[in-house]
Amino acid sequence: MKIAVLPGDGIGPEIVAQAVKVLNALNLNLTMTEAPIGGAGYEAAGDPLPDATLQLAKDSDAVLLGAVGDWKYDKLERHLRPERGLLRIRKELNLFANLRPALLYPELAGASTLKPEVVSGLDLMIIRELTGDIYFGQPRGISTLENGEREGINTMRYNESEIKRIGRVAFDIAMKRNKKVCSVDKANVLETTELWRQVMIELSAEYPEVELSHMYVDNAAMQLIRAPKQFDVMVTGNIFGDILSDEASMLTGSIGMLPSASLDANNKGMYEPSHGSAPDIAGKDIANPLATILSAAMMLRYTFNDEANAVKVENACKKALAQGYRTADIATEGCHLLGCNAMGDAVVAALN
Ligand code: IPM
Ligand code: MG
Repeated sequence: MKIAVLPGDGIGPEIVAQAVKVLNALNLNLTMTEAPIGGAGYEAAGDPLPDATLQLAKDSDAVLLGAVGDWKYDKLERHLRPERGLLRIRKELNLFANLRPALLYPELAGASTLKPEVVSGLDLMIIRELTGDIYFGQPRGISTLENGEREGINTMRYNESEIKRIGRVAFDIAMKRNKKVCSVDKANVLETTELWRQVMIELSAEYPEVELSHMYVDNAAMQLIRAPKQFDVMVTGNIFGDILSDEASMLTGSIGMLPSASLDANNKGMYEPSHGSAPDIAGKDIANPLATILSAAMMLRYTFNDEANAVKVENACKKALAQGYRTADIATEGCHLLGCNAMGDAVVAALN
């Protein structure tokens, strides 16, 4: 199996190195090849998604990504910015289904900013559509009107087939879980999501065992904080999913705990932590590598169909937490504080 390893920017290289270490420790037959993306791609080839990187990703079975972005690139033209590399690789590889599980490890119940009783036992799967919506809709841009005033435009759009295919992913995953799907939209205001709701209702006829509910995104944002355990699978569009998944990550104690998988129709996938590149703590060996290691576990599960090793990696992360090991973002009184590299070692040690 071939894995394209794209560390990216900021803390990307440090956290990816830990996931690579864990994968190597499993002694599977994996070929891992590194390539630059984001700001690193811009530095290496003047492009946040260099052709060689895209080709490597296309030729691989899976992609392991760190994170992209750094303030120092904020002044570049938009098409040269790190984020554009990430959006392009998602689009080019057709990775339309973004799975972001928010799972609370019992050891971290105290690390969440919410009361332990609100979050303990939380096991939520957010399914975010990743290649459509206002992120990619045309027309877009900033132009100058006749009166000299500038105007910014983005376009929220979804067609039926895009909604259907992400809906199917949600219903299929719900069938393997608690058979509840909550579809999040803003159908009271936005026609795009009125269609979203209609298509979800039509699709639900094919899944009589799954209980489908609908929620407006503003209410969903509130319910996630009020009573997050009411949710099993949540499915939503690109922009709402971006926001709600950051919110959900804090239920688990830290955004440093939230892995993700972005899949195409054939379960080829890109695996990355849900958090960003955190340039402020880059190179300090204090980042939490668990979201990236847990993303590697998702790679084993979804692309390599290797449930046994996926569970092995997840259990090793759990064991390291149970042993009291914590990075700074999830540190609690009396814990054993580790750096990024040492946390990777702790997970490797816990594998056996
Ligand atoms: C994410 C990130 C990206 C997004 C950014 C870095 C472009 O926030 O993966 O959630 O908005 O999708
Ligand atoms: Mg985001």
